[in-house]
Amino acid sequence: MKIPVEMPVLVTSALPYVNGECHIGHLRTYVPADIYVRILRKMGYEVIFISGSDTHGTPIVLSAEAQGITPEAVVERYHEHFKRVFKELNVNFDYYGRTDSENNHRRTEEIVKKLIENGYVYKMRIKQAFCTSCERFLPDRYVEGTCPFCGEIARGDECDQGCGKHLEPGEIREPRCKICGSTAEFREQEHFFFNLSSFAEFLTSYLDTMGGTLNARNYAMEWVKKELRDWCITRNLEWGVKFPGRDDLVVYVWVDAPIGYISFTEEFIKGEGEDETEWGKYWKEDKTTIVHFIGTDIIYHHCIFWPAMLKGAGYSLPDAVVASGMVKIDGKTFSKSRGNVVWTTEFLERFHPDTLRYYLVSHSSHTKELDFSWDSFFMRVNNELVGILGNLVHRVLSFAYKNFGVVPDGDIEEEVFAEIEKTREEGIRAVEDYEFKKFVDAVMMLADFGNSFFQREEPWRLIKKGVQGRERCREIVKNVLQILKAVCIPLDAVMPDKMEEVWEQLGMEGDVHSVKLDEMMVPIKSGQALKKPSKLFERVEV
Ligand code: MSP
Ligand code: ZN
Repeated sequence: MKIPVEMPVLVTSALPYVNGECHIGHLRTYVPADIYVRILRKMGYEVIFISGSDTHGTPIVLSAEAQGITPEAVVERYHEHFKRVFKELNVNFDYYGRTDSENNHRRTEEIVKKLIENGYVYKMRIKQAFCTSCERFLPDRYVEGTCPFCGEIARGDECDQGCGKHLEPGEIREPRCKICGSTAEFREQEHFFFNLSSFAEFLTSYLDTMGGTLNARNYAMEWVKKELRDWCITRNLEWGVKFPGRDDLVVYVWVDAPIGYISFTEEFIKGEGEDETEWGKYWKEDKTTIVHFIGTDIIYHHCIFWPAMLKGAGYSLPDAVVASGMVKIDGKTFSKSRGNVVWTTEFLERFHPDTLRYYLVSHSSHTKELDFSWDSFFMRVNNELVGILGNLVHRVLSFAYKNFGVVPDGDIEEEVFAEIEKTREEGIRAVEDYEFKKFVDAVMMLADFGNSFFQREEPWRLIKKGVQGRERCREIVKNVLQILKAVCIPLDAVMPDKMEEVWEQLGMEGDVHSVKLDEMMVPIKSGQALKKPSKLFERVEV
């Protein structure tokens, strides 16, 4: 999607459940979003980047129960954990909130009340799983059973192992209590429903123009075409946002979680000391572009529930939903219980965060599955980061530093400008298509071009060939340094720490993070002092 440059952009990343540690699967929502934001800024857009912790729902309560602590304690621990991980990885949100904030409670109540007022909410008695030995109703993940659609083992609100369908309370077959394991029975209880089915026509036309990746749009379209079932929006839980007027019910976590996107925008803007009504530009007046980054497992929630809720309550609609494919390990789905998981903190104890950022976007196209293996990680680092990029940086800078100490004189050749401009254009096109792999591939091709240019021109021979040879050598070095500068600027969005190092070694002024893509074409200044180069990446091994 091409965004009009005068429009501010709001980019969000799905809110992680803070019920356990961050694994590298999560990162496919956060790292590409951060890269996208950094590139948009380099293209001249005004962007705010927002996320926060999803603190409610059964994922949190069950985890608390298992550890024998309160939901608050679980939230506290993992909220801090996620914040730390994002910092280490240079995922720089402008604001990282939490859905249990007072403000999010208030905004959720306001929106639910608006939906009631507008006639989209009704009461109904439904049969719900109840555990007689625990003596309680079993919402969502408290119950396990069989999916009524595909027959796989499923949890109460989602067929997570099978067809991926969202399940409504009471739909699961052969329910068992997750706490004590006994067979549950169905009991009647009154709940509140959102009239989702009345949004079918609206959603059809909305999805038609919604930007983002096609997997999100097509998947959602399928559901709308088949059938939209009304959506039970209350749960029997203590922990959560109370349903207005009912002390015994909280709203379903998928109501207050996406509302976090609005609340956090509000909280950010207030924190910046701006006019309180300013957030309305984003969520009320449709004066901005809203882009959500998510994983494919939550397309239904973002492309169906969420726009219907926004529409029903009179808010602006998201302009694009960008859904990544899931991360697998050696072909298998992530599973904590089977030990099939790579924890982010363990990864970062051994490898530089930039290598992980690079791997996550370069290994497969954003909407495809990413099959993680250590071998593939080592290969990308050794062949590409060490072999192509590190090689270019080290060889060129060492040669230039040793022979000139500064960026030498000379004109940039047509051929070099043309390659750079091609890279810039391809890069921008790739980002507009959310093809982050194409983006890095284009820049790495430019680095590769730099290597072959250096190799082809043999400046180490020229320098020994008298005045004329030396003159030509200067020119070649100047051109390769130009290529290096032009590689550094876009790649800074992917590997900010490492490109900062190169930027300094090139003797550039200021920091590379604020440099725009247009500067790729600006000739590097002759005479500026180069720094003694150091090795950029180390080879990695098992
Ligand atoms: N709390 C919800 C999102 C609410 S948004 C209003 C949630 N949380 S999560 O912790 O389960 O996931 C957070 C993000 O990580 C989601 O975008 C999800 O798709 C992504 N991923 C979690 N595991 C993943 C993989 N194994 N692979 C790719 N992405 C995955 O969903
Ligand atoms: Zn199923």
